[in-house]
Amino acid sequence: MPQDANVLGTLFGGQMVSWMDIAAAKAVHRFLKGTPADAALTRAIDAIEFKETVHVGNWLNFEAQIKKTGRTSIIIQIDAFKETKDIDKVLACTAMFTFVSVKKLDDGTYQKIAHCKP
Ligand SMILES: CC(C)(COP(=O)(O)OP(=O)(O)OC[C@H]1O[C@@H](n2cnc3c(N)ncnc32)[C@H](O)[C@@H]1OP(=O)(O)O)[C@@H](O)C(=O)NCCC(=O)NCCS
Repeated sequence: MPQDANVLGTLFGGQMVSWMDIAAAKAVHRFLKGTPADAALTRAIDAIEFKETVHVGNWLNFEAQIKKTGRTSIIIQIDAFKETKDIDKVLACTAMFTFVSVKKLDDGTYQKIAHCKP
């Protein structure tokens, strides 16, 4: 949408990161079902690459893949694919998100907690 564009009229990179963070959060939400964790917080975003320009009017589809898990960490690769009238699927952006599983304390703060999943 026009409000997501930068001064060049293409997608603002920060908006792309925000959407990718939401896609990663959704994948982590599913991963944490049935675990002692209440949620997970974004701890790091690595290896981000903007590979293709996205224009106003293009569609974006996000794919999430859990690559690795630790005691509290969950590492997810997010790929954002551009779709246009002429192009079915081209990789526009990729990044590796590290989330940490947390428990919400009574004072409203979050503390890391093992998610107990392989
Ligand atoms: C998330 C948070 C609770 C983690 O608590 P912490 O005591 O700092 O714990 P650490 O980050 O040192 O370690 C937690 C895990 O993350 C991993 N980790 C830490 N830094 C990392 C990095 N830069 N890249 C990849 N993994 C990392 C650690 O190895 C550890 O993994 P493991 O438990 O699987 O072995 C705390 O750092 C925090 O609140 N950060 C702010 C989160 C935030 O506001 N995010 C944005 C909005 S969601």
